[in-house]
Amino acid sequence: MKQPGTLTAWVNDRFTPLGEARVHIEDRGFQFADGIYEVIACFGGTFIDLDEHLARLWRSCEAIALEPAVSREKLRDLIRETYRRNPFPDAMLYVQITRGVAPRSHHIPENIRPTLVITARQLSQVPEEKIRRGATAITLADIRWKRCDIKSIALLASVLGKQEADRMHADEAFWLDEDGHLLEGCSTNCFAVIDESLVTHPLDHRVLGGITRDLAIRLARRYGLPVHERPWRLDEQGLSELFMTSTTNAAMPVCRVDGHVIGNGRPGRISMQIRTLLLQHFDELRAGKRS
Ligand code: PDD
Repeated sequence: MKQPGTLTAWVNDRFTPLGEARVHIEDRGFQFADGIYEVIACFGGTFIDLDEHLARLWRSCEAIALEPAVSREKLRDLIRETYRRNPFPDAMLYVQITRGVAPRSHHIPENIRPTLVITARQLSQVPEEKIRRGATAITLADIRWKRCDIKSIALLASVLGKQEADRMHADEAFWLDEDGHLLEGCSTNCFAVIDESLVTHPLDHRVLGGITRDLAIRLARRYGLPVHERPWRLDEQGLSELFMTSTTNAAMPVCRVDGHVIGNGRPGRISMQIRTLLLQHFDELRAGKRS
């Protein structure tokens, strides 16, 4: 098992021991949150949907007119090499690209070289007990910006949301729009089961297009479960289950929101079915049955 002192990070053009890895204080990521990121899971040496994560990273870059300093192929190799140098059984690879270093000015300077950082951390298994009991959440009015489809490093609203969830002894905070529609969580997408169908907010500027969300939808449809991408509210008739999806948690049932019990208060059958389908899919990837 890798010890924190021996972790290795990629910074711009070289691997460096994590404890010595540095970026300049005038990096625009530090000063303006002028950058984007990805979180990618690697289970037993198998990357989950690496191409999809890279495609989203490129979409985020394009959305903020940031030209990555590396090609997609080179970045893929660097991510794999970062894992090779930090070979946790299950790992979370973090990739961040910022605009680069320049004297502080809102204007984007010409010929600025983006900063690229890649790190790897152990990805802990979600405790079985947590899955058996289900997660809890709170709701908050959405205070984020209007481009939540970009995986921006400007995460202050989500940090404050999680802080409020912690204060309320909940696992996640879900953002609500002004009409009470549930958009997504601070670091998760959210699905309801309503009349035996999956319902999740459609992809627009108010939610991140989660890679796990997309996979959950594809697997559900493949197994004959109807999926509706439409705005929805927690007080809808027929809502019997909730679950949230993310790279780090797959699908996690949610059994209480703002102290109110969802369904019968236990992880729902369909939520657990989606979780099983995702985990089976990851196992198949690991076994080389799917690419
Ligand atoms: N968060 N919505 C938001 C706002 C997120 O930050 C995330 C991921 C998701 C789920 O996306 P995906 O299935 O691609 O992981 C949805 C990552 C894990 C993070 O910030 O750590």
